Amino acid sequence: MSITINSKLPQVGTTIFTVIGELANQHQAINLGQGFPDFSAPKALLDRVDYHIQQGHNQYAPMAGVASLRDAIAIKIKQQYDREISPDSEVTVTPGATEALYCGITATVTPGDEVIVFDPAYDSYEPAIELSGGRAIHLPLLPPEFSIDWQRVKDAINPRTRMIILNSPHNPTGATLSADDLNALAELVRDTDILLLSDEVYEHLVFDGEIHQSLLLHDELAARAFVVFSFGKTYHVTGWKTGYCIAPAALTAELRKVHQYVTFVAVTPIQLALADFMRDCPEHYQQLPGFYQHKRDLFCDQMSGSRFKFQPTAGTFFQLVDYSEISDLDDRSMAEWLTREKGVAAIPVSVFYKEPPNTKYVRFCFAKEDETLIKAAELLCRI
Ligand SMILES: Cc1ncc(COP(=O)(O)O)c(C=O)c1O
Repeated sequence: MSITINSKLPQVGTTIFTVIGELANQHQAINLGQGFPDFSAPKALLDRVDYHIQQGHNQYAPMAGVASLRDAIAIKIKQQYDREISPDSEVTVTPGATEALYCGITATVTPGDEVIVFDPAYDSYEPAIELSGGRAIHLPLLPPEFSIDWQRVKDAINPRTRMIILNSPHNPTGATLSADDLNALAELVRDTDILLLSDEVYEHLVFDGEIHQSLLLHDELAARAFVVFSFGKTYHVTGWKTGYCIAPAALTAELRKVHQYVTFVAVTPIQLALADFMRDCPEHYQQLPGFYQHKRDLFCDQMSGSRFKFQPTAGTFFQLVDYSEISDLDDRSMAEWLTREKGVAAIPVSVFYKEPPNTKYVRFCFAKEDETLIKAAELLCRI
């Protein structure tokens, strides 16, 4: 018997992260490909998970997240962005930022709607738009700045535009939005029903004394936005897949309608541990920009003797490098060659574009031990 399956996502295949990850393992390459730290989370945080498991906190949490964590998040949002939010009606804890992004999109995008995304774009947005019957409208961010061309956004907006998806600090380019960008966006969406989805998982990874321009800093934008964060990035625990979404009560209510049938809840002892740690150790996230800036500077210093060209990244734990003086290979082949032949895994940037410009960039992740970064840069400098 053969069964016909009409794939709802016919374009989706194996992600580049899996391909490069497997290649890196096969060739024992230093993996600066996928974005995850190779160092541990703070021990005090790990101990709290242990503690809560032993205390028997192993059953379902409340659907919106455990109360102590939502309270801790509300306090943090007040401290960081000077915004009062209700932990009851405006905070939802989710299994990873990914689930919050998925729920925000599927709860509000309906068939025929258009959603503006900026390429290169993180790969989870478009499948969620397609599963909702919507259409992603891809606008390019062009090198070397990778900034948003607001005139192009204005030209793309029409009565079918339901949502604009922002990501700052931006994966994979490291670009960040400015206060002027937020004002330009506000002007375009004023007096429309356009919603915003702001992926801010790298909120604390902004360097050189700059401020993260969260949509939560802007009253008009926050009033129409799902703003999504990830504990994985902030506490070096990407494998815990725990994140959260801040949104006005009416949007939160819609997001929760989907969240409760996708996963219902995030993991209980992890939420309790994060709540304790946020309360006891707020300095962790305050120190994060310095912690990662050191790693960025170390990697860039070590790479300064190489033939790669780059500007130190403004945000995230990713460094884009231009290899046009080294090779004519397309970036996918280049990333595979670096992994296989040179022992350092990288991610090609074209995979984040619908229509890739003809550029030669790969992305390295510097969320690694200093020795790992030094060793990787040494190999890359030999090219
Ligand atoms: C831009 C961006 N958004 C969302 C995520 C997903 O975060 P989480 O692991 O919390 O689901 C990532 C992870 O790499 C990311 O880079």
